Amino acid sequence: MRIASNRICDIERFAYSELQEVYSADEIRNLLKIIFEEYLGWDLTTWLLSKQKTINQSDLLKINFAIKDLKRHRPIQHIIGKADFCGMTLRVDENVLIPRPETEGLVGLAKDRCPSPKRILDLCTGSGCIALALAKVFPNAEITAMDISEKALEVAQQNAWNQKVTINFLQADILSDDLAELPMFDAIVSNPPYVREQEKAEMQPNVLDYEPHLALFVPNDDPLLFYRRIAEIAHKHLVTNGLLIVEINENLGEETAGLLRAKGFETSLHNDFKGRTRFAVGRRG
Ligand SMILES: C[S@@+](CC[C@H](N)C(=O)[O-])C[C@H]1O[C@@H](n2cnc3c(N)ncnc32)[C@H](O)[C@@H]1O
Repeated sequence: MRIASNRICDIERFAYSELQEVYSADEIRNLLKIIFEEYLGWDLTTWLLSKQKTINQSDLLKINFAIKDLKRHRPIQHIIGKADFCGMTLRVDENVLIPRPETEGLVGLAKDRCPSPKRILDLCTGSGCIALALAKVFPNAEITAMDISEKALEVAQQNAWNQKVTINFLQADILSDDLAELPMFDAIVSNPPYVREQEKAEMQPNVLDYEPHLALFVPNDDPLLFYRRIAEIAHKHLVTNGLLIVEINENLGEETAGLLRAKGFETSLHNDFKGRTRFAVGRRG
């Protein structure tokens, strides 16, 4: 099917007919809002007042490609190459997890519970979203961020540069590298991979087909392997009363809290804005 003309109302009609099998009408409207903002520089009011306007061939082509990509479940953040997180617009691509709004809750917990930390460590940083948000909240803190993926770290570096913050990025496999050289931290934060392979069946193709599996999945028979290692690192590298704050699998809250308690952390679980158990906070005694 083709767009009937380069008039906005025809583009809209085309988008609704192409995308209705994949998205709800509200979602299509939101996607169109993002597309018109990105490619035409229009806000919602301009769009609503411009239904009879025509656009040039080059913009039409870009919008046509975007609609075709959306139909193939490609995330809108990959199409436009950016995502919002904690008031920042961050670059994203297929090498990093798209920052989730739920993860902003982790930043909120750190903001509320860490009294002016001097040093913060972000393990499994991906796009750098958590580290960057914390750099804005705590401008005097020295922040170190780690990831195994060189390509993810390139994106994170670029984001730090764009946001004008300084982060010490390190490439490391936190599961197997010896991190003994790390200094002591006042807070350690992490959103590590935590989706069990068995949970794949419940996931949407926009995540499964486009986001890095390295960022998502853990084996069914050892779903907490990252938390075990993170707790070990935190045990060695958190100051007394230092805080460990991790995003967790909502189905494994008690197990994750139990693991942290067994390592000597005074632990609490916290919900995200959707009411799902999504974070564990551990205080090192
Ligand atoms: C769930 S993503 C989180 C990304 C980002 N912190 C966020 O909240 O959007 C997990 C990240 O862990 C990284 N990762 C996976 N295995 C790792 C390992 N063994 N050591 C260090 N990082 C790892 C992935 O590359 C990915 O960027």
